[in-house]
Amino acid sequence: MNAYVTEFSVPESFSPVHRAEQYIRNTRFDRPTLVVDLEQVAAQYDALKAGLGRAAMHYAVKANPAPEIIAKLAEMGSNFDAASRAEIELCLSQGAPAERISFGNTIKRVSDIAFAYQVGVRLFAVDAEEEMHKIAENAPGADVFVRVIVENCDADWPLTRKFGCARDKVLHLLELAGSLGLNAKGLSFHVGSQTRQAAMWENTLDQVAAIWQDAKEAGFDLSLLNIGGGFPAFYGDEIQGPTDYARAVMAQVQARFGDVPELIAEPGRGLVAEAGMIAAEVVLVSRKSENDLSRWVYLDIGKFSGLAETMDECIRYQFLTDRDYEDTGPCILAGPSCDSADVLYEKRPVHLPLGLKSGDRIIIPSCGAYTSTYASVGFNGFPPLDVVVLP
Ligand SMILES: Cc1ncc(COP(=O)(O)O)c(C=O)c1O
Repeated sequence: MNAYVTEFSVPESFSPVHRAEQYIRNTRFDRPTLVVDLEQVAAQYDALKAGLGRAAMHYAVKANPAPEIIAKLAEMGSNFDAASRAEIELCLSQGAPAERISFGNTIKRVSDIAFAYQVGVRLFAVDAEEEMHKIAENAPGADVFVRVIVENCDADWPLTRKFGCARDKVLHLLELAGSLGLNAKGLSFHVGSQTRQAAMWENTLDQVAAIWQDAKEAGFDLSLLNIGGGFPAFYGDEIQGPTDYARAVMAQVQARFGDVPELIAEPGRGLVAEAGMIAAEVVLVSRKSENDLSRWVYLDIGKFSGLAETMDECIRYQFLTDRDYEDTGPCILAGPSCDSADVLYEKRPVHLPLGLKSGDRIIIPSCGAYTSTYASVGFNGFPPLDVVVLP
């Protein structure tokens, strides 16, 4: 951590997001830094939990693996969805017992499966025959759920194609699990990350419910439905609040699946994104020719140092400056690296103050998820995103 706190007093009336903003406004940073408010993570956990009812929450560690976040959620009773050995080790080191960790990546190294099993993890995701054999050999007798592919999703950050298997494979995989001595517990899916409204789950839930029904008719006694992530964060477009959203999703689940004995939800973004803000800086403002209509604004953070989700301009971050009282104009926003792919927004330009210049501070809200984990170690020599967690 390279931050210098100049003065840091936060009135109690400030909402938790403002705590991160307040900290940034009172601090000088010598590199782009993500500031995460742990109190807000805890409040969001409670809000989601209230809406999810009896569904167990497995925090998707990949969204933000800051040890302080894992420790706090472990203390609050959360479970964890881990994607690798490193994430499992992290959860264990921060006080989460193995029985509260599921291995949700469908693409696992054999050695990671063996490690997970050896430390006591017993719940694994699968979407392919070879993976099922790997689990049977390295985690004998474990519980598995089959991940179902999701089509036609309305999410801003879709997770289609690469993950899950199609309807015609699901029954085969459930059967294979049983024949290999595994416990085929149920199904999972992911509606797509940043699914802004609960109503957008309808189509996906219909698809999965049809497969669930097929499996039941084929005699499989499914007891677990894992509804994955998809819970949204506020990036400027209207979203439902966390409790209402989760409650509305659960009502749709109940209507289609009835009283499933065990329900799991794996929020990542919806749990941590709004708790974090990035402190960044303008490095250059320029035009490419004397009569160029486009103003280019280059930041000290880009696609390779934390803002990867600007890919295809999918996630639209908002930007706060110290000149927000000035008139604004459109600009092409880009990162600092020597790669022409490092342009954040061009198709839909961002409107920023006309007086913006090198050295000006930029605050980017709702950055607590999928930023620090997406920062390259040192592309072009720029350091990865620094992280400060406010207790
Ligand atoms: C298996 C799994 N579960 C949960 C999540 C978290 O999704 P979200 O951040 O949309 O809540 C992801 C994200 O990639 C995932 O792959």
